[in-house]
Amino acid sequence: MQDNPIGKPLSRVDGPLKVTGEAKYAAEYHFPGMVYGYIVSSKIAKGKIQFIDTAKAMEAEGVIAIYSHENVPKLARLDLSYKDHDAPLSGKPFRPFYTDKILFSQQPVALVIAETFEQARYAASLVQIRYLVAKHTTNFEENLGNSHKPSLNRFPIKSRGKKADKIISEGDVRLDTEYLHMYEHHNPMEMHATTVQYHDDGSLTVYDKTQGVLNSRNYLADVFKLSKKKIRVLSPFVGGAFGSGLRPQYQAFMAVMAALQLKRPVKVSLTRQQMFSFGHRPATHQRLTLGASPNAQLKAIKHVAIAETSQLEDYTENVVNWSGTLYQCNNVETNYRLVPLDIYTPLDMRAPGGATGVHALECAMDELAYKLNIDPLELRLINYAERFQDGDIPFSSKELKECYRQGAEKFGWSRRNPEPRSMKDDNQLVGWGMATGIWEAFHVPVRAHVKLSIDGKLSVSTATSDFGTGTYTIMTQTAAQLMGLPVTDVEAKLGDTNLAWAPLSGGSFTAGSVTSAIKAACDGLKKKLLKLAKKASNSPFKKLKPEQAEFNDGYMYVTGNPEIRIKLTDILQSEKTNTLEAKAFSLPNVLKQRKYARYTHSAVFVEVKVDEDLGTVHVSRVVSAVAAGKILNPKTAHSQIIGGLVWGIGMALHEDSVMDNQFGRFVNHNLAEYHIPVNADIPEMDVIFVNEHDDIVNPMGVKGLGEIGVVGTAAAVANAIFHATGKRVKKLPITLDTLL
Ligand code: MOS
Repeated sequence: MQDNPIGKPLSRVDGPLKVTGEAKYAAEYHFPGMVYGYIVSSKIAKGKIQFIDTAKAMEAEGVIAIYSHENVPKLARLDLSYKDHDAPLSGKPFRPFYTDKILFSQQPVALVIAETFEQARYAASLVQIRYLVAKHTTNFEENLGNSHKPSLNRFPIKSRGKKADKIISEGDVRLDTEYLHMYEHHNPMEMHATTVQYHDDGSLTVYDKTQGVLNSRNYLADVFKLSKKKIRVLSPFVGGAFGSGLRPQYQAFMAVMAALQLKRPVKVSLTRQQMFSFGHRPATHQRLTLGASPNAQLKAIKHVAIAETSQLEDYTENVVNWSGTLYQCNNVETNYRLVPLDIYTPLDMRAPGGATGVHALECAMDELAYKLNIDPLELRLINYAERFQDGDIPFSSKELKECYRQGAEKFGWSRRNPEPRSMKDDNQLVGWGMATGIWEAFHVPVRAHVKLSIDGKLSVSTATSDFGTGTYTIMTQTAAQLMGLPVTDVEAKLGDTNLAWAPLSGGSFTAGSVTSAIKAACDGLKKKLLKLAKKASNSPFKKLKPEQAEFNDGYMYVTGNPEIRIKLTDILQSEKTNTLEAKAFSLPNVLKQRKYARYTHSAVFVEVKVDEDLGTVHVSRVVSAVAAGKILNPKTAHSQIIGGLVWGIGMALHEDSVMDNQFGRFVNHNLAEYHIPVNADIPEMDVIFVNEHDDIVNPMGVKGLGEIGVVGTAAAVANAIFHATGKRVKKLPITLDTLL
C-alpha cells in the first residue's frame, strides 16, 4: 500500500520548473511580430491634461503607435454596463484613458508601442504632456476629520451591549490608546504584465499576471465588448501577488487594447516604480478603549478605525470586527470610516484589515496587561472566548488555547521577567512579546475535473491560481490520495480559463475550497469506476456500495478484503475507453456552516534585541503556533507561515510607502528605498501546527494559511520592543529614530 500523500511534506511539484526557468510568467511569452508597450505615468496627483504632444515620440525609431485618452478607441467600457468583477466596491473602478482628468499621481496617461521594449521606453520619455494642476489632498493624518461612513461596507460593523463609556466605571482599569499604520505596497517579485496573442479570427490568448483568470477574462470581455469565448486568459505561474492580482491591473487593459487595434501580439509590463501606482494597504488610524475589572476581565472594547480610500471608490476591509470576536466581552462598540484622498483605490493586501486591526488590538491588550500588572498571555487566557459572541454560536473548531500553550512552552515564556528593560544580552536590551492571530476560514464554490487515462495517469484541474501558495502541490496530493495513485502519476492544471470554473484565489480560502471540489470530483470518478467494474458478469463488486470501495496503489479494493481488487486501468481497458472523467461543482453547505463561527487562530511569540545606542532592533527568535484545521502539506504550510511571519516583521520594522504630500506621490517607489526584510533581518523561526479537527469548515477540514502568518506578528514584535525598552511606539514601522 502506498503512503497517504495528504499530510506529507511533498516538495512543490512546480518547483523544478521554477528553479530551472522553465516556468513562464506573463511577460516571458514571445510571439513572432510582437510589439512592446511602455506606459507614461502622470507627474501630478490631481488636475487635467491640457495637451499631449506625441510628435517627437512618434518620430523615434521603431515607434508604431501612441495611445492616450485623446485617441483611445471607442470601447464598450463607455457604456454604463461597466462593472468590476472582484468583490465589488461602491463607486467606479479606475478606467484607464477614460478622461483627461488626473486622479492620482503616476496615473497611466499614455501608452507607447514600439518594435522593441527599449524603443518604447525611450520614445515614452519624448512624450510631452502639459498639465493643468489642481490642489490635491493626500495627507491622511491631516484629513482624519473628513471621514465618512462607507456607502457599502464589505464587512458590516457589529456592536453589542453597552457603550464603553457607560460601562467602564471608577474601580475599573481603563486604557485609551491609538495606533497609526501608513501605506504599504505589495511588491511581488514579478511585476504586473500582460502578453496578448492576437489571432486572425479576432480571438485573443492573454497571458496575464492575475490571481483569477476568469476575473481577468470577464473584465476584458466587458470592457472590449467581446464574447467570453473569444478570450482565453492563462496564468499558470505567478511570481507572488499577495492580493495585487485580485483586480485586473491597467496594463492588461492596455495590452489588449493595443493588440485589438494593431492586430499584432503585444506585451505590456509595469516597471517596479509603476508597481506603486495602483492598490496598496490603506493607511489606517485606530483608537481603542479597553475597560477591565480589577480581576482582568474585559468589560468593554471600543474600536474605531479611520482608513483612507480614493475619490473613485469606497474600499473597505475588516479592521474592527476582530475586536468583537477574539475575546470574551459583552460590550463591544466598533466603527469604521473612510477618508477619500487623491490616490489610487486601496487593494486587499495579505490579511487585509486583519494585519492592521489585530495589530492595534493586540498592542492594546499588551498595554492593558501592564496596566493590570498581569502577564500578557494570562490576560488573554482570562478573556478567552469559548463561543462566538455575535449570535452566540460555537466555533467549528478552535484550538487557540493549545496554540498559546505549545507556543509559550517552545518559546520559554514562563522564564520571562515582566519588567521592561529587565532582560539584557551584553549591551543589548532583550524583549519578549506575544500576540494572538485570527483570520476567517471562508469556503467558496469551486468546480473541479478529474480525468483518469489508460496509462494510469490522472489529471486534476480547475481554473484557480497558484501564486506561490502551493496550490499545484496540494491539488496533486489530494487527488493522488483520494484516487489511490502515486503523486508522480497525478498532474495538476490551473490558471487557464479553459479549465473548470473557480473564483479568484485569495482570502486563504483556496486550499480548503479547491481540495473540497477535488474530493467531490474524485468521489464522482470512484462511483463511475465502481459502476463499470460491476458490469462484468463475474464481477466480485456486484453488491459493493461506494463507501465500501477503497482506492490504493492503482487498484480498487473491497474495504477489509484487499484480496478482492481490480486495477483501475483494467476497468478502462474492459470498457475500451482511453479516459474516464468526472466533474464536480462543490458548494459550501451553508445551512450547516452558518451554525458555527469558522476561524483560524495563532499565537506568536517574538524575541527582539535592541541596541539603544543605535536604535536598531533585531528580531532574534520567533515561535508561531497555528491552528488551521487539517494541514495538507507541512512543508508548503510551513513556507506559508514563515512567509507571513516575515511580512509581520517587515510591517513592524521596515515596510513604509512614504507619501510626499507636496507632490502627492510615493517617493520611495523602488525596492532600494521601500525596505523589506532581507535574510539578515530574519532569525530561525519555529512554526508549530496544533492538531485541530474540523468537520464543518469544508469537506476537507482545511482552513487555509495564506493570511494567518502575518496577523498579530507585528504586534508581537512591537510588544517585545516595549518589553525591551519601555517605549511604546504606536506608529508602524518602528524605525530606529523612535527608539533613540
Ligand atoms: Mo489575498 S490579500 O486575499 O490575495
